[in-house]
Amino acid sequence: MDWQALTIRPLRVGEGIPFELLLLADPSRALIEAYLPNANLYLADWEEQIIGAYLLYPLDEQKAEIKNIAVAEAWQGKGLGQILLKHAEEVARANGFDTLLIGTANSSIGQLYLYQKLGFEMLEIRKGFFLEHYEEELWENGLRVRDMVVLGKGLARVTINGSADDTD
Ligand code: ACO
Repeated sequence: MDWQALTIRPLRVGEGIPFELLLLADPSRALIEAYLPNANLYLADWEEQIIGAYLLYPLDEQKAEIKNIAVAEAWQGKGLGQILLKHAEEVARANGFDTLLIGTANSSIGQLYLYQKLGFEMLEIRKGFFLEHYEEELWENGLRVRDMVVLGKGLARVTINGSADDTD
């Protein structure tokens, strides 16, 4: 798929939040509403439709987390998720963060594959996270959604000779 006409941009002032997209990644509207005010929401526009979104949430001066990433169902599996993840990395790096985190469920096999394919490594398992924070019983890929797997990626720039450059 040729994504040349895709635009990824921050939410505009006064623009509505595309909850239907964000709810694909996180079934709890209450949780989304709790992290939204402290996050930066980026939207992917394609032919005047919003077809993707991600939310970058600063954890401290060094670390930011992608709290939510979603592609509209009709557009999934065409490479947009990878484009959004790479965009999030660039935005986080440009804002001075040195580590980007992303969390997903034990049952999210495709997402665990995608994030590792893009260089994220498993850092931590938050046991029982989804049992504690979500009232309803969640299932995915035939598995009970229980634990959060936190993955992370270093954002140090790589110089022409391949060494990490953290001088800027
Ligand atoms: N199941 C199987 N494989 C998958 C899945 C999946 N759910 N998602 C991605 N992949 C694989 C693709 O097959 C592809 O593999 P390939 O490059 O070897 O062919 C690769 O990952 C990249 O796929 P993209 O086409 O770039 O991914 P897509 O545009 O579908 O976006 C996303 C991925 C964001 C996970 C999308 O499928 C989606 O919105 N899913 C529903 C919401 C969701 O689960 N969001 C993430 C929750 S975790 C969080 O928000 C922090």
